[in-house]
Amino acid sequence: MSIQEETASVCWKSPSNIALVKYWGKRGEQLPANPSISFTLDQATTETNFKVGPKTEGSGISLDFLFENQKNPIFEEKLMPFLEKASRDFAWLNDLHIEISSSNTFPHSSGIASSASAYSAMALCLCSLHEKITGEKLEDFFSTASYWARIGSGSACRSVYGGYNLWGSTPFLEGSSDQVAVNIDHLVHHNFKDFSDTILIIEKGKKAVSSTAGHALLKQHPFAGTRYHLAAENTGKLLNILKAGDLDGFIHLVEAEALMLHALMMTSPTPFILMKPNTLAVLEKIKDFRNQTGLHLLFTLDAGANVHLLNPESEDAKIQEFVKNELIGFCQNQTYFCNHIGKGPELK
Ligand code: PMV
Repeated sequence: MSIQEETASVCWKSPSNIALVKYWGKRGEQLPANPSISFTLDQATTETNFKVGPKTEGSGISLDFLFENQKNPIFEEKLMPFLEKASRDFAWLNDLHIEISSSNTFPHSSGIASSASAYSAMALCLCSLHEKITGEKLEDFFSTASYWARIGSGSACRSVYGGYNLWGSTPFLEGSSDQVAVNIDHLVHHNFKDFSDTILIIEKGKKAVSSTAGHALLKQHPFAGTRYHLAAENTGKLLNILKAGDLDGFIHLVEAEALMLHALMMTSPTPFILMKPNTLAVLEKIKDFRNQTGLHLLFTLDAGANVHLLNPESEDAKIQEFVKNELIGFCQNQTYFCNHIGKGPELK
């Protein structure tokens, strides 16, 4: 059978991840300005069905894209340049008609970043289809998926594995690379193996600064050099903290990273304040609660107003009670999502 007659389909479900040391600033083709470390979530996922079949029209990519079962021209237009790039390695993308159908387990405009789960699912589908169509086994399947997920959205490269992942070249980890993420679970102390991430939705809707614009802000940022230096240093420190099981060190470093991300935004040539009054109120509450109870509750933030509450799973019961009694009132429509560390993507 010739490639033009080929029909094949594949479906991957892939999770989002939360960064502990943040990736913020890039160079070249989506290469990170500094290394970053994250853990993969279990509940916030994207499921992507990728089908290819005979193509009738002329040259170039031929795509139909459905998001949550509806045609979505905006997403389709965003996806085209990615698929064009991917055709460098997956030449069959140009020869077949493509039908992609994607849906999230969390509401699209909830403020939870979906690009990590979306592009990791997409990249995994590309790799699986490549093996099906060409009959060739990829030398390192997940590393190739991580590479292509990165081209789609930097942080997505950390979502092709479960547990803890590091992306970006660092002298503190042999085998680390700017091109792909590597899994670091084998280094992590059992104190960090079961962690929870409760995402408090302080504000729904589109982000005030897209991550593309946010990364670009660093290009002319007076503190960019210092940030890259500190992030590189924090990567080494966090690796040691994760190895040692040092919960207090973890709290201190992860919160400082989140605040530095927001401080960068506030001090960029075009400044942005992404926290809302309720974000700050929650951060204060967390600090007080920690001081009063001695429990290991901490926060991290993405480039937005929502708050990620992190804690060891063993402390879930008391912390969920605190969320329900004290924090829910700060969430828009009392919305929050509970996640734990996840095992990574699943082939459906
Ligand atoms: O992958 P991007 O381009 O959406 O960037 C993500 C940036 C942060 O979420 C703020 C930090 C990170 O490392 O995930």
